[in-house]
Amino acid sequence: MFDNRKRIISALAAMTLISAPAWADVILPAPKTSAGMGVFAALNSRHSAKAGEFPLKDISKQELSNLLWAASGKNRFGKGWTVPFAMGKAPYNTIYVLDNSGVFKYNWKDNRLIEISKQDVREKAGPQPIVGLSPVVLVFVADSGTKPDVAWIASGAMTQNIYLAAESLAIEGRYVISIDEAQLRQALKLKPDEKPLNLMLIGKK
Ligand SMILES: Cc1cc2nc3c(=O)[nH]c(=O)nc-3n(C[C@H](O)[C@H](O)[C@H](O)COP(=O)(O)O)c2cc1C
Repeated sequence: MFDNRKRIISALAAMTLISAPAWADVILPAPKTSAGMGVFAALNSRHSAKAGEFPLKDISKQELSNLLWAASGKNRFGKGWTVPFAMGKAPYNTIYVLDNSGVFKYNWKDNRLIEISKQDVREKAGPQPIVGLSPVVLVFVADSGTKPDVAWIASGAMTQNIYLAAESLAIEGRYVISIDEAQLRQALKLKPDEKPLNLMLIGKK
C-alpha cells in the first residue's frame, strides 16, 4: 500500500516536471498613462543619451511597460494604437526586448513579454560598445509581408514616441541604426522574411 502511494507520488512529480513551461514569460504591469511630464515639456528637452553617459542603469518593469505602450500600445479604449499604422492595421513592427535575463518579444495584446531565449545577447546586437552597456536594448523588427517603407515609417513613429515617453519619465534613450543583422536574426530566431530595422538603447543616468 505504502509502495503504491510512493509510486503515484513520483509519477505525479515526473508529470509536473514534464508539463512545466520551458520558458518564463513576463506579464508586465499595466502602463500608467497619466505618468510623467506633458508632451510639450518633453518635446522641449528630448535628446539622445550621449556616449559618455553609458553604462546606463536599469529601469523598472513599470517603466518598461510605459515605454512599450508608448511605442505600440492600444489607446482610445482599445480602438486604436498610440502610433498611426497604415490603413488602421494592427502593429506590423514587433519590438523585441534584450536584457541581462534574455530575449523577449513584446505582445501588445496582453502586455506580456514572450521569452525567446535566456541568453544575454545585448553585446551582439550592434557594433557600437554602447549597445552592450545598455540595460535594455529594444529591437524593432518588420513583420513578414510588411513593405520596407511602411515598416520604416512605423519605426520612426514608434521610436519618437519612446523618446518622448522616456523624456517624460527621466529615462535615457538612443536610436541606433547600426545593427548586426546576422547576429540579431539568429538571437531573435527570426523567419527569413522578418527584418530587423534598428535598435533603441534604454536606461537611466
Ligand atoms: C535614422 C537615425 C539613425 C541613427 N543611428 C545611430 C547609430 O547607428 N548610432 C548612434 O550612436 N546614434 C544613432 N542615431 C542617433 C543620432 O546620432 C542622434 O539622434 C543625433 O546625434 C541627434 O542627437 P539628439 O537625438 O540628441 O537630438 C541615429 C538617429 C537617427 C534618426
